[in-house]
Amino acid sequence: MACTNGTAALEIAISALGIGLGDEVIVPDFTFVATASAVLYAGAMPIPVDVNPGTYCIDPEKVKAAITPRTKAIIAVHVAGHPADLDRLQEIARIHNLFLIEDSAHAHGSEWKGHKVGSIGTIGTFSFQASKLMTAGEGGMVVTNSEDLAVRIRSVHDCGRMPDQWFYAHFINGSNYRLSEWQGAVLNQQLNRLDGQAAIRSRNAAYLNKTLPEIKGIQPQKLDARVTRHGQYCYIFRYEKSAFKGLSREKFIEALAAEGIPTQASYPPIRLLDVFQNGEFRRRLLPEHAASDFSFLKKSSPVSEDAAESTVWLVHRTLLGDEGDTAQIVDAIKKIQQHAGELVA
Ligand SMILES: Cc1ncc(COP(=O)(O)O)c(C=O)c1O
Repeated sequence: MACTNGTAALEIAISALGIGLGDEVIVPDFTFVATASAVLYAGAMPIPVDVNPGTYCIDPEKVKAAITPRTKAIIAVHVAGHPADLDRLQEIARIHNLFLIEDSAHAHGSEWKGHKVGSIGTIGTFSFQASKLMTAGEGGMVVTNSEDLAVRIRSVHDCGRMPDQWFYAHFINGSNYRLSEWQGAVLNQQLNRLDGQAAIRSRNAAYLNKTLPEIKGIQPQKLDARVTRHGQYCYIFRYEKSAFKGLSREKFIEALAAEGIPTQASYPPIRLLDVFQNGEFRRRLLPEHAASDFSFLKKSSPVSEDAAESTVWLVHRTLLGDEGDTAQIVDAIKKIQQHAGELVA
């Protein structure tokens, strides 16, 4: 079901699943705000947990530890296009009777053991915002294999209407989340080139995975062996400033830009966002839920914090060139390392 954007896609998914006041949804601490804000928008509490230090995707064991009687769902984010551990998350969801939502905003065409992400959990959501692998400026999509949920999703996104019913009959409390047809036409054309572009990005990412670890202080996102395609919304690596004479990550990114290599910012941990630290989030919750301690807000998520401070995100268009173009990325990083002392000074 196409919809207005990826945030709306999550809001629709949560509403269609009947998640709301008094409920909790476990989300990764290292993600874009929408993964959590869509939960809060429904009056439920997002519970951020830490991520895996290799893939930066939600850590299933941390999910397990955060389950309470209020928990209704888990939202997994496929960070930069790398699928979260869907085997373990599905198992946990099954045992604890939880919904699994795949926030696939980064992961158009990514595959887990040969299956496209978004199609594995209860519901998958996508974004077609301007930075994404497919875009119509804005846009989003909700996918499910359940016929019943598909009907609810369609209804939530179209003012509570139901199939084959009168235009002014409204059966549930929906909203208007409809995508325009011209945006759909633009996206349909992009779907035709998604596979071809994904193959180019995969080839260039494989080159970087092979060559970047040769540079001291650069550690690419780890590829889980069960991933059959990483869509490479971004190419992430961890930057260790001690190997660059203490050059800050921000100065390193500036130097990369000067070499013609664009990056985009890493995410601050969800937990540390103002809306959670200043208490504003409590206004969306039931009073007895809002009065909870939510002690996780005072604890640390070491991996998410490190990822926020130390990862560098190369944007996907840098991976659409040939091997020579990709080698320039490696050369630029080596050059920055060679001149790190001067840059620090
Ligand atoms: C992980 C994640 N989820 C959800 C969204 C929300 O998508 P949109 O910007 O289309 O609302 C984004 C990005 O923009 C995202 O990166």
